[in-house]
Amino acid sequence: MSVVLEPKLNGKTPWFAGDVPPELVPEKYRLARAFVPKARYLDPEFLQLEIDKLFARTWQVACRVEELPGVGNFVEYEIGSHSIIVVRESRTAIRSYFNACRHRGTRLAKGRGRVGSLICPFHGWRWNLDGSIRLVLDREEFVPRSDDDLGLVSVRTELWGGFVFVTMDPDAAPLLEYLDPIPRIFEPFHYENMRIRWQKGVILPCNWKTALDGFLEAYHVAGTHPQLHRFDKSNTNIASLKELEERTWSPTTTYERHAHYSSVGKKKSDPAAARATKDPNVRGTDGVVDPREAFALSVQYIYDDMRGLENERSWRAAEALKTAEVPEGSTTGDVFMRLYRDLVESEGYEWNDITPEQWAEAGTAWNVFPNTILLPNQGSSFMYRARPNGTDPDSCLFEIFGLDQVPVHEYDTKREHEPQVFTDFRDGDFGEVFGQDLMNAKEVTVGMHSPSFDGHRLSEDQEMTIYNHHRVADRFLWSD
Ligand code: FES
Ligand SMILES: [Fe+2]
Repeated sequence: MSVVLEPKLNGKTPWFAGDVPPELVPEKYRLARAFVPKARYLDPEFLQLEIDKLFARTWQVACRVEELPGVGNFVEYEIGSHSIIVVRESRTAIRSYFNACRHRGTRLAKGRGRVGSLICPFHGWRWNLDGSIRLVLDREEFVPRSDDDLGLVSVRTELWGGFVFVTMDPDAAPLLEYLDPIPRIFEPFHYENMRIRWQKGVILPCNWKTALDGFLEAYHVAGTHPQLHRFDKSNTNIASLKELEERTWSPTTTYERHAHYSSVGKKKSDPAAARATKDPNVRGTDGVVDPREAFALSVQYIYDDMRGLENERSWRAAEALKTAEVPEGSTTGDVFMRLYRDLVESEGYEWNDITPEQWAEAGTAWNVFPNTILLPNQGSSFMYRARPNGTDPDSCLFEIFGLDQVPVHEYDTKREHEPQVFTDFRDGDFGEVFGQDLMNAKEVTVGMHSPSFDGHRLSEDQEMTIYNHHRVADRFLWSD
């Protein structure tokens, strides 16, 4: 396991020893202090470089383990112009292959499904699920070739937390090393016990990074989601100056590859101390006097509107909280956590207590470099994933996965899974909060194309997750 490196601070903007020296990066793509030039989002050549050098060399989430319930189940993972088939070869093995026939290159499988062997739709060559060649029609007419030469070309595949990761780089570091420190920090959240409850994709008129950027900071919350901290959630009027004084503050933390932000409450004078204070016991809805009610409403709104991150169990615990007794010496949050724990344990779910230090280190949302975001929470989580839509830099497929812990007796239950994709997010019933976020995608893109705009000017406290992505990407883009 590699060591977590501390960022060095250039002013405040982080950089790490071994980062690409700026002079090696063409000027129009060159990062400056807390500044990301727009060409990194808008240029077709830059996207091509990402497809060739970034996506071809990094580990990415291709699917979840539960999407491959039986032997022969497969999922296609497309990224840029690449296509990979991930297939369950046996009860214990999942393998991936480049999705190209060894005869004349035809794509072998599309979307998802279940097969006994992989059969090319063109001339019918066949492969076993382990990638070995099974049938070449009229093989004697071909130049003699070994079975090895005709086998499907493997793509490295490793698992963590119930996610199936693939990389096209045979020399990439092992997955756990690449993900460091995420596996250690996420351990208390037990992603392996979660399953996809729903998965919705939407084609957005923006760069794939713009889609992610909107979820990589919470600096936008006061501007985009003014109702979040109001009692009246239907009031989406722009935040008043008085409300802005009460806004939550969400500093970012960068690691060697990955980064996260933490919503920590009001801005503190000491950012370093604030970074360590994310606490799920502190949630509330402004303007509600009873702290139990305030806490409960904030949990319930997330579940009712976003349908994830919270779940129907935490919703019911919140409901019970409204009339629960809060004994001397405990907080509303303590009582909620106890109600939640008692409820899930009585219904057959595993529970483990998460310490304040573990909550603080986990923060709110992580960029799992390059194209995934994870939001750790007890019992439920969101994963977001963005991919370029073909080779158009102004279009992407953005997906939301609602992950939910399942009771112990369902760990081995096979489940049907049908992701939805919408070409217009307004058809997808995403709720108010996601709707507000998705609305930004187009407006950012339109504005970025203005000749007056040269690049993103980022907050050095709350938006370094975005900067960090580009800093890390440079390591892949400008090396051979
Ligand atoms: S292209 Fe696949 S069998 Fe011919
Ligand atoms: Fe948002």
